[in-house]
Amino acid sequence: MIQHMDQARNIKLTQVGAGTPGGAVMRQFWQPVALVEEFDPAVDPRMQDRPLKAVRVLGEDLVLFRDTAGQFALMDRHCAHRGADLAFARFEGDGIRCPFHGWKYASSGQCVETPAEPTGSTLCQRVKQPSYPTTVRSGVVFAWLGKEKNPDSAPPPFPALDCYKASSTHCFAFKGMWQCNWLQAFEVGIDPAHPSFLHRFLHDVDLEDTGSNAAGKQFRSAAAGNVAGERWPMSRVMRELCQPEIKTLETSYGMQLTALRALNPEATEDKITHTRITHAVFPHTFIIPLSETMTITQIHLPIDDTHTYWYSIFTSTGEAINHAAMREQRARHTNFPDYTPKSGKHNQWGFSADEQASRTYLGMGEDDINVHDQWAVESMGAVQDRTSENLGTSDIAIARYRRWLLNAMDQLEARSTSRLAEALAQGTLAVTPQTFDGFR
Ligand code: FES
Ligand SMILES: [Fe+2]
Repeated sequence: MIQHMDQARNIKLTQVGAGTPGGAVMRQFWQPVALVEEFDPAVDPRMQDRPLKAVRVLGEDLVLFRDTAGQFALMDRHCAHRGADLAFARFEGDGIRCPFHGWKYASSGQCVETPAEPTGSTLCQRVKQPSYPTTVRSGVVFAWLGKEKNPDSAPPPFPALDCYKASSTHCFAFKGMWQCNWLQAFEVGIDPAHPSFLHRFLHDVDLEDTGSNAAGKQFRSAAAGNVAGERWPMSRVMRELCQPEIKTLETSYGMQLTALRALNPEATEDKITHTRITHAVFPHTFIIPLSETMTITQIHLPIDDTHTYWYSIFTSTGEAINHAAMREQRARHTNFPDYTPKSGKHNQWGFSADEQASRTYLGMGEDDINVHDQWAVESMGAVQDRTSENLGTSDIAIARYRRWLLNAMDQLEARSTSRLAEALAQGTLAVTPQTFDGFR
């Protein structure tokens, strides 16, 4: 008999605000808060003279700016004086100044001037705008929002994943907003059964036509290895072998997922099995292979309980990445400067019944598989109602991950693992998760 989740548990799993159990877990970890390119005047001309923008992270409204020393500073959006909105602050190079009464904050958040106060006032020395440490990795600005709640603790070490160690020539970062809770966005990545359906192409393309640099061309290139000397496009693997056996392995950094698709399950010898190995890095990141020489690391930043930015870092272990081509491919589907997708609920995610009948299983385009996942997770509603779902055997990784997430919340509340993020970061220091996608 299927056990249904109760509403309280669904709320606990999905909330990220300050003071919630899920929010406490998220605040243990470095979070992506912007792409570095968002501060490039070529991408956003407003950044030429005023490199400052409002960002929303874990339900908190913040401002992010790059000072003239090149450092990113992140602080609360409401001025520590009387709460005016610092998204409209004057940018002064070494800090920002609130236009209401002229209070100035250095990049550290320290108030350094209160010009309306009497001469000789030392008030500013006692005022600090809540601020958060930042670091830049692989074209992404990360911040740690744990500091204000744990003023004595330092941020955890940064995870030593391949995507963060790669040189700038071999990685490329992009992001996009989905109108839904982070957990359902993440769960699509630990669901190895869905590509056989959601991303199914009814026809294969010539393997010579699939460039490894094409960000949207997942499942079009060849699987590693061969079947009786023949290379198979991933589209064929996914279409013809659609009952994967899914295994999960708990690791020091999260979970390794192995999806086995047997080509000749009845054979007693010379069994051929397509194997796809992916990873979940706690709490909201997955790593999947895009081709034999490229991986995607996707982090799901909870903007708040009902909006998510996915940050994808494409990492090549082979040739340098053609950044311009990669960006152009993604930019075609994206509105700037907010990185919202051009397709969505407003246009039925580009759905075509003709296409569904003749070319793809879903009917939402062949160029960009990202919109397929977007439909899956947005069409559930802003927060999926897990009280009415019915999980099957193929949802095993999702069920296990939820249990793990709830355990982490409980342990954190009981203070038995206050250094959860540190332990998991150490896990990624100790081992580099390797992905695989092919026959063996
Ligand atoms: S509210 Fe910002 S200076 Fe007064
Ligand atoms: Fe997908």
